[in-house]
Amino acid sequence: MTLSSSSYLPRIQIAPNGPEFSRVVLGLWRLADWRMSPQERVSFLKQALDLGITTIDQADIYGDYQSETLLGEALQLAPELRHQFQFVSKCGIKLISAARPAHGIQHYDTSRAHIIASAENSLRAMQIEQLDLLLIHRPDPLMNADEMADAFDSLQRSGKVRHFGVSNFTPSQFELLASRFPLVTNQVELSLLHLNPLHDGTLDLCQRLRIAPMIWSALGGGDLFRASAATDPQVVRVREVLSALSAELNLPASTIALSWILQHPSRPLVLTGSGRVAALQEAALACQHTLSREHWFRLWCASAGKGVD
Ligand SMILES: NC(=O)c1ccc[n+]([C@@H]2O[C@H](COP(=O)([O-])OP(=O)(O)OC[C@H]3O[C@@H](n4cnc5c(N)ncnc54)[C@H](OP(=O)(O)O)[C@@H]3O)[C@@H](O)[C@H]2O)c1
Repeated sequence: MTLSSSSYLPRIQIAPNGPEFSRVVLGLWRLADWRMSPQERVSFLKQALDLGITTIDQADIYGDYQSETLLGEALQLAPELRHQFQFVSKCGIKLISAARPAHGIQHYDTSRAHIIASAENSLRAMQIEQLDLLLIHRPDPLMNADEMADAFDSLQRSGKVRHFGVSNFTPSQFELLASRFPLVTNQVELSLLHLNPLHDGTLDLCQRLRIAPMIWSALGGGDLFRASAATDPQVVRVREVLSALSAELNLPASTIALSWILQHPSRPLVLTGSGRVAALQEAALACQHTLSREHWFRLWCASAGKGVD
């Protein structure tokens, strides 16, 4: 089954008073690995847009601090794209990197000064004037919710960032920061190889607050398909059911794996991680299909390695 038009790929408002994003989001963590020329990056972005993928996920640290710059080069070549995408970036992790020689140890920094400096740097690197959403990349044991809210307020007032959210936060960490400033998402790992957010309260809280989670490594970081993961018992079980359903439903296995996430009532957005347009098409197709409850639970049982009680 193939796709070429964008009419089927929905956009949703991800939170009350939040931004409107496409259900499938273009993840650019691996952009530097794809070794695309600037013109190839432009073409990739245009093909994503053709599929209805209008939201881009970035972070200051992606590609050893290079990914945002690579995207910025493409946007300079095709400036009209700036107004067709929504841009998400993240801050709060400081990596050891030749690009940041001052960092002596990998650590978190959610100070007001770092949040503001990092957001401003992301804007410069991507050559855009405003971020639609800035996320705190990981919970920081030293995070001070009042100080972070003050940084968010300053960035919002200056027009540099429209909305704020978090990533990899527990429900209680989310509630702490949300008590000081409105948050529009929690970006978390969920896949057929990683079920935790279904059962640890993360998606319950999203549903209660009507906040759509953003889902990273929705295909297990590629382990659902990669040959090197083929000996893992959980991978074996999930692949077996995915391949049976793929034949039965006449859909690619990746489409089924993403549909399995998309139909959760918290209205998740799924992030892609591939540099192949065919993989983006398979992801977009996932918005078209809803699995039966029996199919959904066959996959859950394969992942969990047990039936339900
Ligand atoms: N907030 C966080 O802490 C966090 C952490 C990690 C990632 N993220 C975000 O989430 C995005 C996605 O994460 P991810 O890259 O781990 O996602 P993923 O979709 O689970 O994995 C993508 C990897 O799977 C491979 N792959 C193999 N077969 C595939 C198939 N049939 N369809 C699609 N991909 C296939 C891709 O390789 P090919 O390119 O060869 O297809 C790629 O290397 C990132 O780009 C980033 O924006 C956020």
